[in-house]
Amino acid sequence: MHQHDGAGPSLPAQVLHHLTMRRPSRFAVTCMAAFFFLAAVWLYGETAMDSFGTTRERLPPAPLPTTVSLGSGGSKIPTTGDHTKVPATAGNKDTPKVDATKDTPKTEDIKVAPTPAGETKAEKDKSKEAGKEKGTEKAKPAAAPLDWPKTDIPPGDISHPGHISPKIWQILLQKNPSAKKVYPDPKSLQDTASWLAMNADYKYTLVSDQGGKDFVERRFAHEPRIVDAYNHMPNVGMKSDLLRYLLLDAEGGVYTDTDTVAIRPIEDWIPKGIERDKVKLIVGIEFDRRDGGAWADISHWLQFCQWTIAAAPGHPVFRKMTERILTSLDDIAHAHNLPIDQVKPTSFEVMNSTGPAAWTDAVFEQLQLHDSTLTSTKDLSFMEEPRLYGDILVLTIDGFGMGQAHSASTNDGTTPKAALVKHLFRGSWRGE
Ligand SMILES: *[C@@H]1O[C@H](CO)[C@@H](O)[C@H](O)[C@H]1NC(C)=O
Repeated sequence: MHQHDGAGPSLPAQVLHHLTMRRPSRFAVTCMAAFFFLAAVWLYGETAMDSFGTTRERLPPAPLPTTVSLGSGGSKIPTTGDHTKVPATAGNKDTPKVDATKDTPKTEDIKVAPTPAGETKAEKDKSKEAGKEKGTEKAKPAAAPLDWPKTDIPPGDISHPGHISPKIWQILLQKNPSAKKVYPDPKSLQDTASWLAMNADYKYTLVSDQGGKDFVERRFAHEPRIVDAYNHMPNVGMKSDLLRYLLLDAEGGVYTDTDTVAIRPIEDWIPKGIERDKVKLIVGIEFDRRDGGAWADISHWLQFCQWTIAAAPGHPVFRKMTERILTSLDDIAHAHNLPIDQVKPTSFEVMNSTGPAAWTDAVFEQLQLHDSTLTSTKDLSFMEEPRLYGDILVLTIDGFGMGQAHSASTNDGTTPKAALVKHLFRGSWRGE
């Protein structure tokens, strides 16, 4: 570096001085500016990443909805990625004929990993997805009674290791599916907002005619009797009934009619004092003869509702219910001496085949497996608190059935503490 020695500097020295004194200072300024600029960028980046990261952590891992297309229909139903491979036969427009001697197509076993207690919801979702990915392809022989996909449940096992899935299902089928597609009036879904608002991060699916058909043909391809029954239901109400049981069996979650209002978040449905991990099915009461006589169409003392049901996937009650439906359809066709899709069933036949009377039989049989002292639905009358039978939580009348003029339902315009759902009885298909 140039030294200040007091002597008049020579021209080269002056130039050197100029260069060494000015250039480095300009260089230093530039360096500092660049440093501050980079530091600012880095700091901003850290903060931005930080808040982004936090936001991401709060949400459950987004299950990218994969779509499965079936045959020539071209319509798609989103699945959570655990879709089964669809055998070639399932793409046929024609419903497969029931033939127990035919080879059953290959299907994928659905496995739901039991999730250890104390996990966060996001972790549960993750391990659930991971568990499902482990599903293996396996050939299965045709079998009667129903050959259910859940081979990981030992035959005599009356409960299920899964949990109630964070999913909400609603169904909107057209009364005349062969007519031109009619989009529903958005007003018919005005109460769905209550479900979305109370249950953020739940996966919501509105199932239509095409989606329902695709789902049944894809997931139950190995059971032509189910596909056949679904495609030949005598009316849309019965079809919607069967579809809800099959959806909950395959996917779990909460099914609820479009004319129901969510009053409490699903997370709060299991009362304090009942171990959450034990609950695999939640049922509500629709009718209890406790404060009045019998009702014309209601054969049980107490009837469970099926306008709202919460379930872990693969709960054995759905297999029982589906077998009951197949039996009832045969009985009805036989009684009318007509093919089932030409029968005009009575309102009672609807209730006692796919509807709440049949559902009550299936649920009650399942309850009896857990409590052999139960002899009739009358034993559940006068319930004052929700009660757990094995893995089935039975709610009091106000749970899903508040605001009715019978069954000791709270009907004074107030919302009782026990109320979880309000049914508006707006769009009943029954008895049409
Ligand atoms: C209800 O349906 C079942 C199954 O089809 C049948 O056995 C039973 O007799 C029916 N109940 C009445 C009261 O008709």
